[in-house]
Amino acid sequence: MGDWMIYGATGYTGKLVAEEAVRRGHKPLLAGRSAAKLRPLAESLGLEYAVVSLDDADALAKAVGSVELVYNAAGPFIFTSDPILKACLQTGVHYLDITGEVPVYQNAYSYDAAAREKGIAIIPGVGFDVLPSDSLIKYVANQMPDALYLEVAVDALAGGSGGSANDGLSAGTAKSMVELLPTIGTLERRNTKLETLRMGSGQRKVRFPHATKTVMPASWGDVEVAYRTTGIPNIKVYLSLPPMLMTLSPIFGSLLVNLLKIKSVRNFASRQIERMLPGPSEKTRLEGRSAVYVSVRNGKGETREAWLETLEGYQFTMIAGVRVVERVLDGNFKGALTPSQAFGADFVLEIEGTTRYDSLPS
Ligand SMILES: NC(=O)c1ccc[n+]([C@@H]2O[C@H](COP(=O)([O-])OP(=O)(O)OC[C@H]3O[C@@H](n4cnc5c(N)ncnc54)[C@H](OP(=O)(O)O)[C@@H]3O)[C@@H](O)[C@H]2O)c1
Repeated sequence: MGDWMIYGATGYTGKLVAEEAVRRGHKPLLAGRSAAKLRPLAESLGLEYAVVSLDDADALAKAVGSVELVYNAAGPFIFTSDPILKACLQTGVHYLDITGEVPVYQNAYSYDAAAREKGIAIIPGVGFDVLPSDSLIKYVANQMPDALYLEVAVDALAGGSGGSANDGLSAGTAKSMVELLPTIGTLERRNTKLETLRMGSGQRKVRFPHATKTVMPASWGDVEVAYRTTGIPNIKVYLSLPPMLMTLSPIFGSLLVNLLKIKSVRNFASRQIERMLPGPSEKTRLEGRSAVYVSVRNGKGETREAWLETLEGYQFTMIAGVRVVERVLDGNFKGALTPSQAFGADFVLEIEGTTRYDSLPS
């Protein structure tokens, strides 16, 4: 198995992936912009590290060129993905990330031809967002080739005892939402085009394997990725969010989006997030469950549906991340691919704790 790098290794998720990699016998190069954060982590895991800023294209290409694959865990990816993608294309190195950000997928997919020419794989979204949903979408869409409508609902922290109210989200995830919300708002795909919805509108109930939950439309990565996977022209993605957020979103959503358009407000929000969100506790990661529901409908009104239950989202991301790295280093992948284009609909079932349901008991 070849050498690989985790960029953003000192973040909440990067660290989890580094630990899992070591448990599976890998020795990834840990990379990031802060020597002070990298050194203790590398020492504790017995790994090499490289300090490299994304602003220094030559140094980045040199570091990236020393491995066969980069796993980018540094988000918000709107700031980190493109410099690393360019370095990967320059040096012929595979690129993976765990983004959920629609513009980041669009940018990554724009490098498809260049990636094929270089013989490298570019596979964004190999975390909980969007590997499980994209796999389930492929599974359900395969059963209805003439599907015109796709609905996806995600419950990222579904069951288990969980911890405190701020125990479900990492700082990086919240900061990515703060950066993205004012630019893209809430998106759905109508007749192949992305359209903006009023935040908090369109709430509905969805039955998941463990419970029925209220969900609301959100710009989860599948709005872009599922279109690439299936070509279905109408796509809606829903998220289950804390009840307080669901109640407040229709009232204060537009105000929040407008406030976040101001850079100083985004910076202030990000600083507060860093202070307040340490990331899910180990208890939440181990006891929590996540779930996805997918349905498709054709012009005759016929439908197909299925569900997935997985490990808690960050736990899933940690375990799936290293398995994906192993697959890519062992395989012959080329071009910009969605997770299910690369690994098929059933790869997700190899990740421990994942169950797929064609129906739920009544
Ligand atoms: N797909 C999924 O299911 C999934 C799961 C987990 C996380 N994520 C995403 O992964 C990202 C990271 O999440 P997290 O919770 O691990 O975040 P985090 O704890 O805040 O860590 C972020 C990491 O990225 C680095 N970083 C951020 N901006 C950078 C930049 N401009 N240049 C260089 N390094 C930079 C940080 O370095 P410093 O410490 O030096 O700032 C840190 O190492 C988020 O976007 C999150 O949404 C996705």
